[in-house]
Amino acid sequence: MLIRNVRIEQAEALQDIRVTDGRFSEIGLGLAAAAGEEEIDGGGNLALPPFVESHVHLDACLTAGEPRWNRSGTLFEGIEIWSERKQSLTKEDIRNRVRKAVRMQAMNGVQYVRTHVDVTDPTLLALEVLCELREELRDHVEIQVVAFPQEGIHSYPNGKVLLENALKAGADVVGAIPHFEFTREYAVESLRYAVGLAEKYGKLVDVHCDEIDDPEAKGLETLACLAHESGLRDRVTASHTCAMHSYNNAYVFKLFRLLRMSGINFVANPLVNITLQGRLDTYPKRRGLTRVKELLENGVNVSFGHDDVYDPWYMMGTGNMMDVVHMGLHTCQMMGYDDIVGSYRFVTGNGARTLHLGDAYGIKTGNPANLILVGARDFYQALNEHAVVLYSWRNGKLIASATPAEKKVHF
Ligand code: FE2
Repeated sequence: MLIRNVRIEQAEALQDIRVTDGRFSEIGLGLAAAAGEEEIDGGGNLALPPFVESHVHLDACLTAGEPRWNRSGTLFEGIEIWSERKQSLTKEDIRNRVRKAVRMQAMNGVQYVRTHVDVTDPTLLALEVLCELREELRDHVEIQVVAFPQEGIHSYPNGKVLLENALKAGADVVGAIPHFEFTREYAVESLRYAVGLAEKYGKLVDVHCDEIDDPEAKGLETLACLAHESGLRDRVTASHTCAMHSYNNAYVFKLFRLLRMSGINFVANPLVNITLQGRLDTYPKRRGLTRVKELLENGVNVSFGHDDVYDPWYMMGTGNMMDVVHMGLHTCQMMGYDDIVGSYRFVTGNGARTLHLGDAYGIKTGNPANLILVGARDFYQALNEHAVVLYSWRNGKLIASATPAEKKVHF
């Protein structure tokens, strides 16, 4: 297959991409088609490696309005509603919703997903289903499952054992939630425990770290220190880190030295944290987003996640990572031209680093032919005009396509 006339990421010139036996076999200008080779006109559109969803909770997705709508739009009412909805969780229910959500993501060009799954559940039901679906859907999407102790490790009955059992049952990544633990001591112990399990079982780490407006929530310094001292480094990710928004600048200045040394990744979740943080403030209201711009300036890897998709905490979303980037650029005040045109990195290459996808990710000769074609000349236009993903190919096979809506003005 020969895909003609595409702009790869921010390249100036239009190029052609040849795919042979599911891999990129040639990339260049004006490639000649072989006899009988399928040709696709890229129309000068933007070719990107597939989107990476680096932080989402698929076990709760697509449950908005069940059994009732979140009328206040707050985290607290979301938690109440979820505890009611949880009563009716079955394998079939989770399976159907996750399959649907993954198809929505595929329609929007996502081919890699890191999902957190609540393991503060003595039955580990959702974890079992997500591990099954990871295998079932492997040809269309690569899923990483995080064992996420939503109600704490040390503050939940049998939490330590459940977390370890989740890893034995097949989770890829160890989670933690230090800001939710009963005490600061539990928070530190829980991080030590999670990192210890990652070392024992050879897993990655992704912590819901300081998702709170409390400037005293300092799980991050402990996590970064552990990543540094254990040598796990970039195998460790700190998600959310909302409290960093509220830290004083002198502390952040000191902290950044450790963050650079530690090599850890960050995931910000702009749609959800701009919505849920700052709720206990009067005015001014804090945004609650971590310091994305400053982390990048310090050479730290940051990707963006959707976090919730149409669930009790965030009752919007279609799994479209361009919505996430759009919100992230606004809320992080990254509205310079270069910020915007290069912002696909938050949901492509930077996400791939977080997920440890390795060199096989990216549009390069020899790599698996995984790519998307976005209906715009560059990512600036894509974001501004809400472009669709025209094609999504995985191992050279078309897994999703779309036709842009035709709009008319009658004057
Ligand atoms: Fe989350």
